[in-house]
Amino acid sequence: MEKIKKISSILIKNGKVVTEKEISINDVFCSNGIIEFIGDSFDIKDRILSSTEIIDAKHKYIIPGGIDPHVHFDLPIGNGMKSSDSFETGSEAAIYGGTTTIIDFVTPQRGESLLKCLKNRKKEAEKSLCNYRLHMSITEWNDKTESEMKDCVYNEGIKSFKVYMAYKDSIGLDETDIFKVMKVAEAMDSIVMVHCEDGDRIDELKKGFENNGKKEIKYHYLSRPPETEADAVKKLIEISKKTNCKTYIVHNSTKFGLDNVKAYGKNGRIFVETCPHYLLLDNSIYENKGFDEAANYVMSPPLRSKEHQDALWDGIKTNIIDVIATDHCPFNKKDRLAFKKDGFSKIPNGVGSVENRLSLLYTYGVLTKKINIEKFVNLISTNPAKIFGIYPQKGVIKVGSDSDLVIWNPDKKSVISTKTQEQRCDTNIFEGFGTRGKAEIVLISDKMYEI
Ligand code: URP
Ligand code: ZN
Repeated sequence: MEKIKKISSILIKNGKVVTEKEISINDVFCSNGIIEFIGDSFDIKDRILSSTEIIDAKHKYIIPGGIDPHVHFDLPIGNGMKSSDSFETGSEAAIYGGTTTIIDFVTPQRGESLLKCLKNRKKEAEKSLCNYRLHMSITEWNDKTESEMKDCVYNEGIKSFKVYMAYKDSIGLDETDIFKVMKVAEAMDSIVMVHCEDGDRIDELKKGFENNGKKEIKYHYLSRPPETEADAVKKLIEISKKTNCKTYIVHNSTKFGLDNVKAYGKNGRIFVETCPHYLLLDNSIYENKGFDEAANYVMSPPLRSKEHQDALWDGIKTNIIDVIATDHCPFNKKDRLAFKKDGFSKIPNGVGSVENRLSLLYTYGVLTKKINIEKFVNLISTNPAKIFGIYPQKGVIKVGSDSDLVIWNPDKKSVISTKTQEQRCDTNIFEGFGTRGKAEIVLISDKMYEI
């Protein structure tokens, strides 16, 4: 990070101000962490003080700060290992890339109180340098779950829950318990995020490969075929229909998952997320790279074929996909390979791009004309703000909203590299990807970061 300044007021002049619907060339004046004026600053010249920071944003965009509603900082995965970014390093990387708010997770172990786990997680999350919030994961249903969920919402500021249809032996739930979670969440008007993969089928396939001594990384993706996602999406939609609960499908990776959402219709209640890696990388990596290198791309669901990638871009175009988040959860090489001798199923799952999300989507989405800049802003900021209940405080450039803003230089070129990144990891799945467009100044309330 180049420079951080505390400011009481700031005037950003001549920028192309992007909101969810339009672009206008305007000046934006913020004071005490709030957007106070958008227009010609001549009209408010009496409010400009000698201490006001004045920035010229001519030919640059002013966009609402990115909101990444799906990150895993400091995620413990057993064996004493954690995802490689802490709240401090991950949030710094987020700011560097133009994201001003992240939403991470509380993931209680079975038998652990939700509230106790939340209390501990809040202490870790406080180290975040950007705005942060937490989703509560429900990893089992017991006789305290309902009342603890209510406490979370009514007394602890939690607005969203998460359940996993995979990982049945540790944190996953079966459909009966997911129904119970959604019923309780619906009564509180909360949203439930769902990791849609058919855990039972995956465990069966995994065991089959393991029993036959198949250890290579390609068996990671072969044990999680596209149908395992699509079937889970279908089952989830049934539960969502019965409970009427607002539902958010995390990291959808397949055409078939989207087809199932399309067939039912979103009905204003189902929201879909995908991630940059499903849009820009494909599963040939698992076949073409050696074990150690391919291990860096182990994530669940896995990368898919080109056909799915194209369907995801189409899903963005047709508004089936609402949000591009990162599922940021990278691991250092040493941790990836700690149990290499036991094969693909012991490689920690997760990859990272919290720093790269905006520049990747701008370069490979906006500049290739797959999406326009307004849609870009919707996908990375406005929609997540609306879905997770922080709009219009965040996710929009509007008088009265928080001054979480990014001055985006559309011409700045870079190449993604582990050597120069802020993300704390010794790999990057987008290593060598060229980008054009970069956050140059990031404003979070009364702090200004010059990148
Ligand atoms: O591979 C992934 N996605 N790792 C992070 C944890 C999860 O499943 O979301
Ligand atoms: Zn995740």
